[in-house]
Amino acid sequence: MRRARILGVGMYLPERRVPNMELENIKELETSDEWIRQRTGINFRHFVSEGESGTDLAVHASKQAIIEAALTPEDIDFIIYATLSPDYFFPGNGCFLQDRLFPDRTIGAMDVRTQCCGFIYSLAMADSLIKSGHYDHILVVGTEVHSTALDFTSRGRDVTVLFGDGAGAVVVGPAPDGHPGILTTAMHSEGKYARELWTEYPASAHNPRLSHEALEQGRHYPKMNGRMVFKHAVTRMVEVSHEVLAKAGRTVDDIDLFLPHQANLRINQMVASQLGIQEEKMVNTISWTGNTTAATIPICMHEALRQDKLAENNLVLLTAFGAGFTWAASLLYW
Ligand code: UT7
Repeated sequence: MRRARILGVGMYLPERRVPNMELENIKELETSDEWIRQRTGINFRHFVSEGESGTDLAVHASKQAIIEAALTPEDIDFIIYATLSPDYFFPGNGCFLQDRLFPDRTIGAMDVRTQCCGFIYSLAMADSLIKSGHYDHILVVGTEVHSTALDFTSRGRDVTVLFGDGAGAVVVGPAPDGHPGILTTAMHSEGKYARELWTEYPASAHNPRLSHEALEQGRHYPKMNGRMVFKHAVTRMVEVSHEVLAKAGRTVDDIDLFLPHQANLRINQMVASQLGIQEEKMVNTISWTGNTTAATIPICMHEALRQDKLAENNLVLLTAFGAGFTWAASLLYW
């Protein structure tokens, strides 16, 4: 059976850079640069400008990934698009991206709704579709626009200071003979905790889907039980990393590079320490991106390449935890 590997990586952040001080200066938010840096490791994040959408960010990241893969748009035959913040309720962003990148071709496009794990789940889908011979080159995109739905009052400050907007993309294609490519992926969910990190409105579960009362109560903003999410994130990311290593018959010592989801620097330091991975083998971008949810891992991948920390045949561990709860890990050869 043929194997699949990542052929090219792209990323894009919107131009508007928002330092912690800008949030500190919003009186109603009641936060500080010091609190944000100490508790999360974030110094600044990027927010879209009026009229700029997740699809806009995806176009930039995707074009770069296709160029880096030494391919042209004509070579792409499927889109997998991960986001928790689609431009519209429906259709999915994959369709909007298909129109922007491939207006003369009717290639398939699907959205994946697994929040912070969206990229790893999508990569697993792409891996299977390529291994089975169904497609040759799949564009896997993760984008997020959080800034248009954040509560800039003290009611939402725990969530608001964490999130940023951004996009990451990769092209997945056949690995050359003898190259193992993507080794294995593990994916989990535990829906009993769905309401510990979620956005309730607008919702088809309510009629009407959005009410003045819900808006006044701020129920259209994300809500999170931060401490609980933190604890589960550390436990599950360690657990699922061991799971993929065992499945692939590899050990922690074999890992050349660790690219964890970017939700909180303290989470990643704890995960790396519990796994026994040296910090030099880990790439974090949270200080300048904030949490960009489905986009964090491809952005980290791009940064690892920029820092020359990723070379042919390196063994790379990806892991993520987020809303759902969902968690996942992937082990792959570069
Ligand atoms: O990607 C999706 C997954 N998300 C995550 O993995 C996030 C997981 N959770 C976290 O990263 C952390 O729990 C937070 C960064 C959200 C919060 O940090 P924490 O160290 O767990 O703080 P805490 O919730 O225990 O709150 C400590 C204090 C509280 O005040 P009191 O009760 O001690 O007086 C909060 O009200 O910090 C207060 N606080 C803030 N203060 C200033 C909470 N948010 C803020 C804020 N600015 N933005």
